Amino acid sequence: MIRLLYVSASRSTADALKNDLSDILESSKKNNQALGLTGILVHGGGMFMQVLEGPDHQIFRKYSEILDDRRHADCRIVLITTTEERAFPDWAMAVLEISNHEFKGIQEIIASHQETVDVKAFSLVIRSFMSRLAGK
Ligand SMILES: Cc1cc2nc3c(=O)[nH]c(=O)nc-3n(C[C@H](O)[C@H](O)[C@H](O)COP(=O)(O)O)c2cc1C
Repeated sequence: MIRLLYVSASRSTADALKNDLSDILESSKKNNQALGLTGILVHGGGMFMQVLEGPDHQIFRKYSEILDDRRHADCRIVLITTTEERAFPDWAMAVLEISNHEFKGIQEIIASHQETVDVKAFSLVIRSFMSRLAGK
């Protein structure tokens, strides 16, 4: 199994954002469940961060489809790891809206580890998202 984490820039206008997010969530829930994919989509400060987990070929197929989506741009893979265990077993996809400030924290982690991303730092971020999702 693979865990893939990428960031991208949202292209939705403020007016369209709410609808775009709910459309993305709706198709993600439907498609991801059928493909055995799980994960979360975090939005904040005009950026997306998504974690996708699942079988290798399904991950790469879905990611290449997501790359072509005009609702965002500048997709950048931050982390790919093989894993035996899902970090988000309970969500075919969940959307979490965070503040600009919180997203800045994520960007700082990315910027400070340009070549090799510190998996530990990301584990902490992921864990904090998990505990917030647990309240949903
Ligand atoms: C930031 C972002 C994340 C997305 N994540 C997923 C996803 O996890 N699963 C998915 O099926 N589609 C996702 N999409 C939507 C796909 O790009 C595509 O629109 C969708 O899979 C089309 O499927 P549908 O025709 O069944 O709606 C995402 C789009 C964006 C912009």
